[in-house]
Amino acid sequence: MKKRKATRCIILKSPRELELMRVANRIVAEVLNELSESLQPGISTHDLDRIATEGIIKRGAVPAFKGYRGYPASLCVSVNDEVVHGIPSPERIILEGDLVSMDLGSIVEGYYGDAALSRLVGSGSEEASRLIEVTVQALCKGIERARPRARLQDISWAIQEVVEKAGFSIVRQFVGHGIGRSLHEPPEVPNFGRPGQGPLLKPGMVFAIEPMVNAGGPEVRVLEDGWTAVTVDGSLSAHWEHSVAITENGPEILSMLQ
Ligand code: MF3
Ligand code: CO
Repeated sequence: MKKRKATRCIILKSPRELELMRVANRIVAEVLNELSESLQPGISTHDLDRIATEGIIKRGAVPAFKGYRGYPASLCVSVNDEVVHGIPSPERIILEGDLVSMDLGSIVEGYYGDAALSRLVGSGSEEASRLIEVTVQALCKGIERARPRARLQDISWAIQEVVEKAGFSIVRQFVGHGIGRSLHEPPEVPNFGRPGQGPLLKPGMVFAIEPMVNAGGPEVRVLEDGWTAVTVDGSLSAHWEHSVAITENGPEILSMLQ
């Protein structure tokens, strides 16, 4: 989500609400898995969006992004220097070596699921595959910190540390977010910060944690379509996202295929 100023309280979810969020996020995970299998040279980003819409509806859920603040599709597909929020188009054909990020959301009985992944199409550059690996690593390290009695920015710092040690940069203009009966709830979950800072984490909180990592500088700009965010220096960018519940026993990744 776009970074903006708002500090309201963090809504805790009941066991029943968590169960609905498990369903919504499992559907997102299954459809992202299907999309990964369909991601081949020659497919258009519009075809990927159609597969996403059908996959979500077939499973009895509703695409969450379509119509959200006027977004025109179910799926965001961001290729190479596109960071997030790429709008699918029949003219945009995926090529061998492309780094493709796909971001998908669903709604089940009013509760949201949200997750994203990045893949390399066929064989690509060494830099692209390392960028994806580091982004996954950063997300995992962040998720490990999502446990009761930790502070929110423990997650942020864990992500930032992995990325910067690898020589890549964290996008700051977009951040992760709380999720529940809205796609975006408080708090913002930045991918940069200082350990020990921010709200205390409690069981029942659910966060969409989503590092966006650039191979070059951190600056991004939004194209004239009002959505597509690209790196200012034209460098590659990767994006991974999971919706994660904080439980008494630690993090539970809701958007993971078991
Ligand atoms: N994961 C993205 C976010 O949290 C998805 C939003 S796409 C939108 O910002 F179209 F719905 F805005
Ligand atoms: Co999100």
